[in-house]
Amino acid sequence: MITQGLGQGMSAGAMAELFSRQYPRYRERAYLYYRNEDLCRGIPSHGFDHHERVCFNSLNLALLMAGRGVSFESHFIISLIIASLFHDTGLTNVIGKMHGEEGARISLKFMEAEGVNEKIAGQVAEAIRYHDDKRYLEHHPPSSLASVVSVADDVDSFGYTGICRHIAISLKRGLDPESDRDQILINASLRHSNLQRVYGYMGEFARQQRERYLITERFFSGNRNPDRIRRREVIEMIRGWLLSEPDNLYSLTNRLAGIISDHKASFSDYLREELAANITAKNKYV
Ligand SMILES: [Fe+2]
Ligand SMILES: [Fe+2]
Repeated sequence: MITQGLGQGMSAGAMAELFSRQYPRYRERAYLYYRNEDLCRGIPSHGFDHHERVCFNSLNLALLMAGRGVSFESHFIISLIIASLFHDTGLTNVIGKMHGEEGARISLKFMEAEGVNEKIAGQVAEAIRYHDDKRYLEHHPPSSLASVVSVADDVDSFGYTGICRHIAISLKRGLDPESDRDQILINASLRHSNLQRVYGYMGEFARQQRERYLITERFFSGNRNPDRIRRREVIEMIRGWLLSEPDNLYSLTNRLAGIISDHKASFSDYLREELAANITAKNKYV
């Protein structure tokens, strides 16, 4: 699927161009499929907007590698789009951590209906199965679809976006996020270590993601009384927000406006800023 080396496959520019031609079509087809099959309904931490952010994160990673001389074949782009847009659909029926197998099954049904060739379908299903292994027992090369989609997913679990998503999915699983903090911190730490192991060589990207990981880590590890009070405020805000049956994370930003972040500005300003990157990417490609 992938050839590595200089001068083969597509340039970063050609990849971006191919993405901009393929993405609107697959996005539209996937969106309709979500609506027809009720995918991820009632799971706003993992709604269609999360899948879109992961798709743009995946593209960003692939473009960074292409800029460093890694060559991808053209069908890598289609695989990347479908794997990103379906990786968490398994949560529809399996709300636990091991939802990759179910997501692979759903993606295969979609790809069969769309006439996607078997080779691509197999690679997409493999990447979706792999993404929920947050212990990273299997090692895949940085340029593999499995590594790209898995780390692109992890990128969306850091920063203020990550804080809100960890809390929302914890509540959906019937857990108390405050008591579940150790598990959240272990999960975030494993994701971050894996990112640094696989993509640490891409200095600026790795540094930015470390900053975002530390925002999440500090929020959940803080033991001072003000930390606990603020965490409780955010958790209760998200609990109330879930009752309004939202379908994406953006609707949370207004509710969080009164909560002050680590950086002394409104928590929601930072969340909005992170989510805006997705909107900018979307405006570019859709
Ligand atoms: Fe997942
Ligand atoms: Fe995900």
